[in-house]
Amino acid sequence: MRRSLVAGNWKMHGRLDANRSLIDALVAAPRPACEVAVCVPFPYLAQAQALLAGSAIALGAQDCSVHEQGAYTGEVAAGMLREFGCSHVIVGHSERRALHGETDATVAAKAERALASGLTPIVCVGETLEQREQGQTEAVIGMQLDAVLHLLGAQRSSRIVLAYEPVWAIGTGRSASAEQAQQVHAFLRARVRHHGADADALPMLYGGSVKPDNARELFAQPDIDGGLIGGASLKAADFLAIASAVPSP
Ligand code: PGA
Repeated sequence: MRRSLVAGNWKMHGRLDANRSLIDALVAAPRPACEVAVCVPFPYLAQAQALLAGSAIALGAQDCSVHEQGAYTGEVAAGMLREFGCSHVIVGHSERRALHGETDATVAAKAERALASGLTPIVCVGETLEQREQGQTEAVIGMQLDAVLHLLGAQRSSRIVLAYEPVWAIGTGRSASAEQAQQVHAFLRARVRHHGADADALPMLYGGSVKPDNARELFAQPDIDGGLIGGASLKAADFLAIASAVPSP
């Protein structure tokens, strides 16, 4: 059976006071049926680690370097994230691909570095609106995924989490429909299987304008195992409502 996960992607949001209120509320709430993680900005890792101590909520970051260590000003190594209690790290978010020029090869290298440091990479793939309208969705996300599967090989690929995040749905309030998302998730799972990885065990998250009122329908789809939540992860009540929308096993 597959694990399900709801991960919050705080992006470049948060302040010490606000983080404390948010995490305190998450920790105090009843434990949902799925795994829950919060991916916080680097400077808040220590604070979040301390606030989450003893809770079932996992800690993650939003990026890591392809390098192990060295003269890479401004970069953060996956090994450093481990030292602050991270279990997860997002790699290949579309904002990093678009704004920081990350290529499919870079994203694959980051996933590899994360695994080597004992972290679970949450590998993001997704098409732009233009690509979808031109019928290129499967070609684009297939290429993004293949880069990772090729570099990692079947065995290590079985240890990642995949997140399908259509670029046109991120932060726009316009989520993919449950049918659209399921269709892409089924395609991704078939592709993972084709590469020989353990597709049935690999958690696949949907991300892009997930809210309390659309989460249940999305998470009810057979190939959607939870969500990567941006805006709604900054409000404890919304994030908790989304996490509790994951069906119990
Ligand atoms: P959103 O962001 O939920 O605000 O659309 C999702 C993401 O970018 O991971």
